[in-house]
Amino acid sequence: MAETMQGLKRSARCAEIGKESIGREVTLMGWVQKSRNKGGIVFVDLRDRSGVMQLIFENGSIDEEGFEKAGKLRSEFVIAAVGIVEARSGAVNPNLPTGEIELRVHKLRVLAESETPPFPIEEDSRTKEELRLKHRYLDLRRPDLQRNLMMRSRVTALTRNFFTEEGFLEIETPMLMKSTPEGARDYLVPSRVHPGSFYALPQSPQIYKQLLMCSGYDRYFQIARCFRDEDLRADRQPEFTQIDLEMSFVDVDDVIDVNERLLARLFREILGVEVSLPIQRMTWKEAMERFGSDKPDLRFGMELRDVTDVVRGCGFGVFTGAIEQGGSVRGINAEGLGAMPRKKIDKLVSFAKEFGAKGLAYVALAEDGSRKASFAKFMSEEEMDALIKAMDGKAGDLLLFAADQDKVVFDVLGNLRLELARGQELLDKDVYRFVWITEFPLLEWSEEEERYTAMHHPFTMPMEEDLGLLDTEPGKVRAKAYDIVLNGTELGGGSVRIHQDHIQEKMFQVLGFSMEEAHEQFGFLLQAFRYGVPPHAGLAYGLDRLVMLMAGEDSIRDVIAFPKMKDASDLMAEAPGPVSSRQLEELQIALTTEG
Ligand code: AMO
Ligand code: AMP
Repeated sequence: MAETMQGLKRSARCAEIGKESIGREVTLMGWVQKSRNKGGIVFVDLRDRSGVMQLIFENGSIDEEGFEKAGKLRSEFVIAAVGIVEARSGAVNPNLPTGEIELRVHKLRVLAESETPPFPIEEDSRTKEELRLKHRYLDLRRPDLQRNLMMRSRVTALTRNFFTEEGFLEIETPMLMKSTPEGARDYLVPSRVHPGSFYALPQSPQIYKQLLMCSGYDRYFQIARCFRDEDLRADRQPEFTQIDLEMSFVDVDDVIDVNERLLARLFREILGVEVSLPIQRMTWKEAMERFGSDKPDLRFGMELRDVTDVVRGCGFGVFTGAIEQGGSVRGINAEGLGAMPRKKIDKLVSFAKEFGAKGLAYVALAEDGSRKASFAKFMSEEEMDALIKAMDGKAGDLLLFAADQDKVVFDVLGNLRLELARGQELLDKDVYRFVWITEFPLLEWSEEEERYTAMHHPFTMPMEEDLGLLDTEPGKVRAKAYDIVLNGTELGGGSVRIHQDHIQEKMFQVLGFSMEEAHEQFGFLLQAFRYGVPPHAGLAYGLDRLVMLMAGEDSIRDVIAFPKMKDASDLMAEAPGPVSSRQLEELQIALTTEG
């Protein structure tokens, strides 16, 4: 039978009590982690969000009725226990912050009983994620998830303090709005009042924050929920949170400066890690050429090398063919992996093919000086020697090559580099390597649409020195855009925005938008810009990704209280779900398929 608190008041959380409290009376409330009944004595591990405390119930120090109740406690019962803090009588547990003390209980209340939970509430759970997400309220009792969410709360609190101190205003922007230009699919919300019309949930507060700059708020931030209907991965959710900011009268360096100081503050105060400032910067081009990625993981080397000039004119048709088609040949030296068995190499080849490679050529350099190359018969000894030399190949190394268009070569080798690092366990989670990637291309050619699309969004400012190229070679124009990357994850990105009409007009032209089309989509922003728009720039972080990396997790689901599954469903609430025909009628919506 559940009892009430009847005037009891919790005096502390379990792990807030230390040895200095020995001899004091405290009242704890929480969940029974486990209980052991040893005849005349009952031990209970009591859990709350701070940690665990061992309770001890002994016949004599608690009355008969209380002792009987203690003997019946089961996992996940909610109890209140009043007792005296004592030094541990039994073995001290060095793994617990409260491992040297225990609470000798003289008053016990059972506040709620519990059915047997569908899975054990324990750290590093091995229970399948589906089951855990179905009962997320239980999953969230696990100490690791509780620590993650407590860390997340500290990150947002520190972020708010930081930006407020720096003169930023926290301003909310609408959830029900018009489509934003972030390039993913929108989540739509039907309007009842305007049948046939829809709101879009924001993919980001982009347009509104630019309007706020127009309105003179000059430094804005928001911890903003964003919605994107895109394919989910470990670091992507359909709804996620951004730390979003925008500043007026600034250029790239100003945005970078304030954000570096934010990151340094967060990492120092939460992890005790010093981020040395300024954070390294690398142009997009350099990142692609050295790491095959615009979000390079700098915790390890294995950089790409361009061997196009070395193999030009060699006897291997795969290489020369790619070069003739305007592509390149590049390789990575997987040092010390020269003895990799054939089967494992074949796995790397299949891995490369997943990223569009037609094949993966390799040279394995054995310790005894012999070598095995998948294309040996197509190359002379001299050509092979020159290639190995260009790769700094030594006995015991494995050289891997991709030949194709640059885009494919980068993607293949960039991913292969990560795969090799994972295999060799080179990815130390306690090392934090930040890098700013700058000078992104402004535009990307879309084969599908046969036109240029904006790599960041259509309001991103081209680099002044490249403005002339907009008419002649738009593909070569670099943008005043930047991403902040940590250990191979894109934490955030932003740009300086276009604030001059003639550049904006040109940009729309290059993107193949007529001015009418541009006005249809972003008319109110363009309109606003006619009334005095300050130069402005901004950035947004993925808060979930930031906390994921700080907490050492592999998925953002582990730092979001109620995340969605891969298919964007919520297993616990069973959302999305059908709605009543009355609701549909009100919205004047008819379904074309049976729900
Ligand atoms: P962008 O689209 O790069 O920029 O988004 C900024 C950051 O948000 C995070 N992010 C996501 N996190 C989880 N799940 C997702 N589906 C998801 N999509 C993005 C990433 C990313 O770096 N308005 C611009 C910012 C600006 O220009 O100021 C924007 O939204 O960490
Ligand atoms: P083949 O002549 O098809 O047997 O190819 C010889 C070697 O070249 C094999 O190891 C292939 O995996 C590799 N190869 C094929 N196409 C490419 C490519 N585009 N880039 C790199 N290696 C390739």
